[in-house]
Amino acid sequence: MSVTELFDRAAGRSRMDRTTIRRPDDFHVHLRDGAMLQAVLPFTAAQFARGIIMPNVVPPVTTVAAAIAYRERILAARPQASDFIPLMTCYLTDATAPDEIENGFKDGVWAAAKLYPAGATTNAHHGVTDIPGLAPVFERMEKIGMPVLIHGESTDPEVDIFDREAVFMEQSMLPLLKRHEGLKVVIEHVTTAETLELVRAHARHAAATITPHHLVINRTSLFQGGLRPHLYCLPVAKRERHRLALRQAATSGEACFFIGTDTAPHRRTAKEAECCSAGVFGGATALQTYVQVFDEEGALDRFEAFASENGARFYGLELNRGTITLERREATVMAAVAVEDTEVVVFQGGQTLPWSIGEVSP
Ligand code: DOR
Ligand code: ZN
Repeated sequence: MSVTELFDRAAGRSRMDRTTIRRPDDFHVHLRDGAMLQAVLPFTAAQFARGIIMPNVVPPVTTVAAAIAYRERILAARPQASDFIPLMTCYLTDATAPDEIENGFKDGVWAAAKLYPAGATTNAHHGVTDIPGLAPVFERMEKIGMPVLIHGESTDPEVDIFDREAVFMEQSMLPLLKRHEGLKVVIEHVTTAETLELVRAHARHAAATITPHHLVINRTSLFQGGLRPHLYCLPVAKRERHRLALRQAATSGEACFFIGTDTAPHRRTAKEAECCSAGVFGGATALQTYVQVFDEEGALDRFEAFASENGARFYGLELNRGTITLERREATVMAAVAVEDTEVVVFQGGQTLPWSIGEVSP
C-alpha cells in the first residue's frame, strides 16, 4: 500500500494528519495561453504530474500541428525544474477528420478529443452542432482506444440552465453511449446525482471527472449575501442534494470517478462584468480542497485512487512513480494571482484551509 499513515498516537487520536500518495494528475485543466498561461501554470505544475489540457483557446486546437505548437508553449512556460507533462486534446468540430484524430493519437500528440456542444461554454462556438454526424470520428476513436471528453450540457436556449446537464444526458449522452459501446467516454465535471448514476450504469466504458468546487459549493452559494461571480462556472452548481451525491461518489473509491479540476481562470475584469465569464480558478487550491473533502467524509484511505489511479487507468496511462504529501497544517491561501494589469481570483482565496501541500518527490 502506498498511502503513508501517520497517526497521532501520543495524543491518543486516530485521525490521519498526513497522507502520502502517488503523484496525481489533473484530467481537466484550462491553462490558456500567453500571459495567463505564465501566471497559472506554476500552480497546476506544483500539484499535478500531468494535465489533460483543454483545447478551447483562441483559436481552438483542432489540428495536430496546433497541438504540438501549444504543447511547446506550455513546456516553455513551466517553472524551472518542473517536470509537468501536458497531455493534449483535440477540439472537435463538425469538420473533424477521422485521420487527423488517428494520426495525432498514434504519434502520441493527442491523449483525447474534447466535445463541446456548439456554444455551450467559453470559446465553444466552433464546437459540434450535430453529435450523431460525428459517428465516423467516434468509430475511429473506438477502434484506436482514444477517449472522448464531453461537456454534457444542452445548448437549447429554451432549457432551464439548471436542467441543461440532465437534458443533454437524456437526449445526447445516452444515445451516444448506446451507439458506440466500445468508445471510452469521460463525462466532464459532472454536477448531478442522476449523471453519477448514468456513469455507474455504463462504467464499462464511461467515467466522470469531479471538480473541487462542485464538492464544496451548491447553487445557493452563488447568491450568498449577493451575486458571487467568482463561483459561476458551467455546468452551474446545482442543489445541495447533488453536491452531497458528488461527495459520496468522489470518496467512494469507484474506479469510474477521478480528478478533473476544470480550473478555468478568467481575469477579474471578465468576472466582475455586466456579463460574467464562466469559470472557477481552482488550480491553486485543488488538492487542498479535495483532501479536505476526503477527510471530512472519513475517506482519506480512498484519496489516492481518486487522485492518482482511476483516471490514469481509464485513459490507459502509466501510473506516476513519485509521491506527494498532504499535511493537516492550516494555511491562508493567497486571494488572487496577478496577470498583466489585473488578476485572477483564487477559489477559496483569502481563506484559511486546514490542509496544505507538503513534500513532492519526483
Ligand atoms: O466554467 C467553465 N469555464 N466551464 C467550461 O466548460 C469552460 C470553462 C472555461 O474555459 O472558462
Ligand atoms: Zn473545462
